[in-house]
Amino acid sequence: MTTAAPWSLTTDAPLHSLNTFHVAARAPRLLSVRDVAALPEALAAVAPSPLLVLGSGSNVLLAADPEGTVLCFDNREITILEHRADHAVVRAGAGVVWHELVMWSLAEGLSGLENLALIPGTVGAAPIQNIGAYGAQVGEFIQSVEAWDTLHAQWVQLDQAACRFGYRDSLFKHEPDRYLITAVQLRLPLLHELRLDYAGIREELQAMGVELPVAADVANAVIAIRRRKLPDPDVLGNAGSFFKNPMLPREQAELLSRQHPALPVFPGDEEGNRKLSAAWMIQACGWKGRREGDAGVSPDHALVLVNHGNASGAELLALARRISASVLETFGVPIEPEPRLVGARW
Ligand code: FAD
Ligand code: EPU
Repeated sequence: MTTAAPWSLTTDAPLHSLNTFHVAARAPRLLSVRDVAALPEALAAVAPSPLLVLGSGSNVLLAADPEGTVLCFDNREITILEHRADHAVVRAGAGVVWHELVMWSLAEGLSGLENLALIPGTVGAAPIQNIGAYGAQVGEFIQSVEAWDTLHAQWVQLDQAACRFGYRDSLFKHEPDRYLITAVQLRLPLLHELRLDYAGIREELQAMGVELPVAADVANAVIAIRRRKLPDPDVLGNAGSFFKNPMLPREQAELLSRQHPALPVFPGDEEGNRKLSAAWMIQACGWKGRREGDAGVSPDHALVLVNHGNASGAELLALARRISASVLETFGVPIEPEPRLVGARW
């Protein structure tokens, strides 16, 4: 019996299918690591080349070819570390597809992740921007993150507090590529209060004929809503929301709300800031469904930039800049990209 190599290296690798915008970029080197115990050895083989970690590339805009080495994790084990009366601790490898972990956890009778069903990407990327949807964020369920710290060349295990999770934010976003996340440990309850308050979930459950929902029903409702609202990247290249919803101090948000009563304002953070709907402001500026060459804005969701075919990363970025400038001019509110920009600064 032959065992698969712990890691493999290819040169001049096409990244078209490694980013969901399907931008035609290339990497000088692509390092794929299956056995993370061999990560230090694999890194030594490509040193001192700069690194860019990619999962599924569903939250990156490749504005230029990355320099150095693109690193991908292909470790896909899911194990239960602890099973208690009211919760279990689950460990998932960085290379596990996020949605597969969600469906696996529900099949095991564990809950918590149901509102996060169908978010594209890998487990290793989930803590980076603290993925969130429909009233839940992954950081609430993360017990710890296992990573190789490239700064000190050592293995680390960061607990929930150390990860400093916020809205689309974490420690990892502030030091890109310092921590190479190899696995995530999640503490998942056996039973918990379902979150049905995000707009559309109750209506969807009703339409499905579900009166007393369990966690799997909520996942199915979320999946149905997402399939309706968001373009499928396999059909039309995109990276989900291109902009974060901006947070403003309460007084400023209330002033804007008086000027634009239809502008959706959501609860923000513990400091009392409010979150405004970037989609609404972009749509109000007339961008929804617009197309400039092959770069455009989805006709289904104003927050989603799309690649109609052969748009380059630079063209998508130029469109994003025009959109943000018009939102700033009309509403006085700066909006910032959610995906990581490779080869460009905002
Ligand atoms: P990538 O895009 O490959 O990488 C994203 C960032 O994480 C990069 O900075 C990368 O360097 C870093 N990274 C990736 N893996 C690792 C690792 N192992 N170690 C260290 N750094 C790493 N996001 C939400 O939060 N909520 C949503 O509802 C949502 N909906 C989406 C819908 C669509 C249609 C699409 C295309 C995207 C959506 N996203 C959403 C964004 C995206 O799915 C998430 O950000 C996801 O976590 C990205 O995973 P990925 O594996 O594709 O990461
Ligand atoms: N809206 C518009 N025009 C549109 C779309 C939406 O005006 O074209 C307004 C509507 O009033 C709607 C409101 O915006 O009620 C909110 O829309 P939606 O529920 O789609 O949420 P969102 O704020 O646009 C956020 C996340 C999504 C996440 C959903 C559901 C951000 C940046 N985006 O979108 O995450 O799936 O909520 O929780 O926070 C992503 O991060 O890539 C992503 C898709």
